[in-house]
Amino acid sequence: MAPRAHPGCTTSAIDFLVIGSGVAGLRAAVGLSRRGRVLILTKGGPAEGSSIYAQGGVAVAPEEDDIALHREDTLRAGKGLCREEAVQILVEEGPSRIQELIEWGARFDKVGGEYALAREAAHSRSRILRAGGDATGTEIVRTLLKRARSLRRIAWREHHFTTNLLLDHEGRCAGAAVIDESTGILTSIPARAVVLSTGGAGQIYARTTNPPSATGDGIAMAYRAGAVVEDMEFVQFHPTALYVPGTPPFLVSEAMRGEGGILRNIRGEAFMRRYHEMAELAPRDIVSRGIWNEMMETRARHVYLDVTHLGPAFIRKRFPTIYATCLRYDVDITEEMIPVCPSAHFMMGGVKTDVHGATSIPGLFGAGEVACAGVHGANRLASNSLLEGLVFGARAAEAAGGYATKHGSKRKDQPEMGTSILSKREIPEPTDWDKVLNSLRRLMWNKVGIIRNREGLLSAITRITEWEDELRGLCRTRRDWEIQNMMTVGRLVATAALRRTHSIGAHFRSDESASRSAVRNRHIQLSTATLEDRPAEIHLN
Ligand code: FAD
Ligand code: SIN
Repeated sequence: MAPRAHPGCTTSAIDFLVIGSGVAGLRAAVGLSRRGRVLILTKGGPAEGSSIYAQGGVAVAPEEDDIALHREDTLRAGKGLCREEAVQILVEEGPSRIQELIEWGARFDKVGGEYALAREAAHSRSRILRAGGDATGTEIVRTLLKRARSLRRIAWREHHFTTNLLLDHEGRCAGAAVIDESTGILTSIPARAVVLSTGGAGQIYARTTNPPSATGDGIAMAYRAGAVVEDMEFVQFHPTALYVPGTPPFLVSEAMRGEGGILRNIRGEAFMRRYHEMAELAPRDIVSRGIWNEMMETRARHVYLDVTHLGPAFIRKRFPTIYATCLRYDVDITEEMIPVCPSAHFMMGGVKTDVHGATSIPGLFGAGEVACAGVHGANRLASNSLLEGLVFGARAAEAAGGYATKHGSKRKDQPEMGTSILSKREIPEPTDWDKVLNSLRRLMWNKVGIIRNREGLLSAITRITEWEDELRGLCRTRRDWEIQNMMTVGRLVATAALRRTHSIGAHFRSDESASRSAVRNRHIQLSTATLEDRPAEIHLN
């Protein structure tokens, strides 16, 4: 599985940097390889990231008439805050991106010779394509990795952690500062254009479905470089993560409810009809808040998902990963109900991009969960994000290629942060930042979580700002930077949540004021300019 650094490729001979090797970064790299030499930088191993954990599948409208319905469902879930052009592109270009994956060798599940299409919450039709039952992400990443590795112009640096983006004297993105995790050496890598595809930030919360790599690095580094971030208050909480104390985060797919799974409180009562006519298949935010309410009322830390009536043979075949993982934690889902609780799952907000992946910084492009192209609005429709990574990864590659042709004919060998070796690793001061991180994650869960109010948000912002001030300038290692990035992203989520005084989509304010908020149908944009120079201002589009 391990990709190698391309033998003939040194970092001084790079045209494009792609930061991150999930679905969005890999698809961008494949596209960019047609335009020049590409270097993929990724922290940890090549497949680390959320993409390989995707279970439910990828939404795709196979028939012409379903494209319009897919668009409608996506817009409805987004509660008026999607950008219609972005949604139109997603649903129209999605089928071609999937077809391309199939041509590159992706094997999606079939039933009776036809592709199997499942139903998920808030979709008006069955249109979720899956692989290996509940291992869709693994199959898509396998296919893209194989494709990327076959392309001569793509080189890799795994275990390379990007700390910061580098700007030239005209404010254009001209490369990145990177720590080689094996030596600790920090280097600057120049490039004609950069695609940011660093994924989400679920790790800012005490409970999350996201892997450890989801620390919001891309959002924090783009924000530090001056980029506009948007809609940060919209964090999707998945209703059903496995609740077994002491075990790593594990998602129990919505597809289980799509197949007839029933949510029950600890008294065994099916409760979802009390919250929405679509019951278990209501939009995610409604299901998550319904569960939260039941947990409060029954004073329990979880509810149950009951699939026992689906039958052991079906469960084992349809959900092999979930079955095996739960069994490892001593829960036999064919015989007993699964303890579940909501967990932070997906960032709808992120670095603001246009529909070509262009950010507010020339030369910097973004795709996938790190970006906010306007596809999801206030709430993401299930299984739309793998599709987003594929569609907008390809688009960002096109646009970055075009940008480099127009603006970057000469490679920028001297981006602003200067010399190629920035510094050697120093022994960090003895700090207890991991303890602070635990406090941050609990604070975010309690005060900036599923239900929010002004008082809690203000106290969170104050506390996080103090921590950030203490850590600023001390970062040396990957872990230091990740902790600082999580603080920055946490503060941005809390700030945007404070500014949006009404409830909409995934953002719920228990102290919603009766007066109609000025930002109801607007996007909340934050940047170092608006937050630090003009703190009270909200930028609307
Ligand atoms: P990722 O796949 O997270 O990749 C980010 C990459 O960036 C990684 O390679 C990481 O190592 C790298 N990186 C991060 N920071 C740095 C840095 N500082 N320096 C260098 N590299 C860095 N969506 C669906 O559509 N369908 C599903 O069924 C589905 N199921 C899901 C199940 C789970 C458990 C989770 C967590 C998510 C699920 N999602 C699903 C959401 C979807 O998987 C993600 O939104 C999507 O895969 C994100 O892709 P990405 O390429 O943007 O980021
Ligand atoms: C799931 O399988 O429930 C996750 C799907 C998604 O997040 O899109």
